[in-house]
Amino acid sequence: MFSNRVVSGMRPTGSLHLGHYHGVLRNWIRLQHEFECLYFVADWHALTTHYETPEVIEQNVWDMAIDWLAAGVDPAQAILFIQSRVPEHAELHLLLSMIAPIAWLERVPSYKDQQQRLADRDLATYGFLGYPLLQSADVLIYRASQVPVGEDQVPHIEFTREIARRFNHVFGRDQGYEEKAEAAIRKLGAKRARLYRQSRGRYLEKGDTEALAAGRALVEEAQNLPLGERERLFGYLEGGGKVVLPEPRALLTDAPRMPGLDGQKMSKSYGNTIALREEPESIVEKIRRMPTDPARVKRADPGDPEKCPVWEFHRVYSDASRRDWVQQGCRSAGIGCLECKQPVIDQVLAELQPIRERARRYLDDPTLVRNIVADGCDKARKLAQETMREVNEAMGLDYN
Ligand code: TRP
Ligand code: SF4
Repeated sequence: MFSNRVVSGMRPTGSLHLGHYHGVLRNWIRLQHEFECLYFVADWHALTTHYETPEVIEQNVWDMAIDWLAAGVDPAQAILFIQSRVPEHAELHLLLSMIAPIAWLERVPSYKDQQQRLADRDLATYGFLGYPLLQSADVLIYRASQVPVGEDQVPHIEFTREIARRFNHVFGRDQGYEEKAEAAIRKLGAKRARLYRQSRGRYLEKGDTEALAAGRALVEEAQNLPLGERERLFGYLEGGGKVVLPEPRALLTDAPRMPGLDGQKMSKSYGNTIALREEPESIVEKIRRMPTDPARVKRADPGDPEKCPVWEFHRVYSDASRRDWVQQGCRSAGIGCLECKQPVIDQVLAELQPIRERARRYLDDPTLVRNIVADGCDKARKLAQETMREVNEAMGLDYN
């Protein structure tokens, strides 16, 4: 029932750069050939931090869609859509909020981190606190099994798993399931029954996986129980019968980390990016101006690639023999820094040229992008509505 669906989103907060491309987008593009993929522009998520500048959202949304298409996301393979055009995301967010403990939300690392990092904005809002819960709704509404994201998003996917588990625990038990499970527990004998209940409670309330393992061992040992009842107890240990919302897992790229021009993580807020649609002259200029190992003051001074951000680019773009050439040439002052940078310049230009070319088509014909996205929104909405039917039923809202 729960297919290998893939869901991911990005906040439309500016043009995409090489960090996005190597960190996430290439993964999206690879996955679209293997799985049913849904990729969306998370415009509501952008509002949680940028609610004071709503006028920039529209432009950013279309720029982002163009960046994706230009990078190789294929609308014939993947569903591309905009979060706010599928209002079921908000509906599920609301329903999940009934069971989302505030303490779980406050504990998500990005909550306090971002409040500190973006101290010039007031992020003591309900919407910002609920950011990870909205993200959970984005994923759970498609019952996705995999979520390709950057490393920074892993805590949000973990949170999503916990919310799904809790939802299934509270709302996923089918008719009479509990009574049947309770009857089976009693057959374990008084002592084992008590231990089973303890393990189950610790796992469901705190996510304690050791308690889960202990509970499973107990059931395994109860050889006098028929297999059917043991299976029921295994299932009950994890919260119930029906899995209305399956737990997804995060999917990271195995690509090397894409550094910024200054060696820090590539990020718009550090001003160290190369945009996917950056003009070639600007790319050349930026790489030529990249800082290098400060020890190389004069051409004859040897350097150490480990202390140089250009080397980080070679790790992404160069094969073993070129990397050797850099190592030797840098340490012996056999090559100059501009010489060392040239192959990086060539590689980045070669990588981005087809992207810029593909973008042209969409920039010249804006209705093309609008149509692709409108079609994606329709498709996504149908899938979302299927899940909402089951969610409403599980939550007692299917009356008329
Ligand atoms: N929070 C994600 C980011 O900042 C964007 C996002 C929103 C997302 N909803 C999602 C990613 C659902 C994956 C799945 O990058
Ligand atoms: Fe960096 Fe290359 Fe210069 Fe060495 S030679 S400092 S690796 S740019």
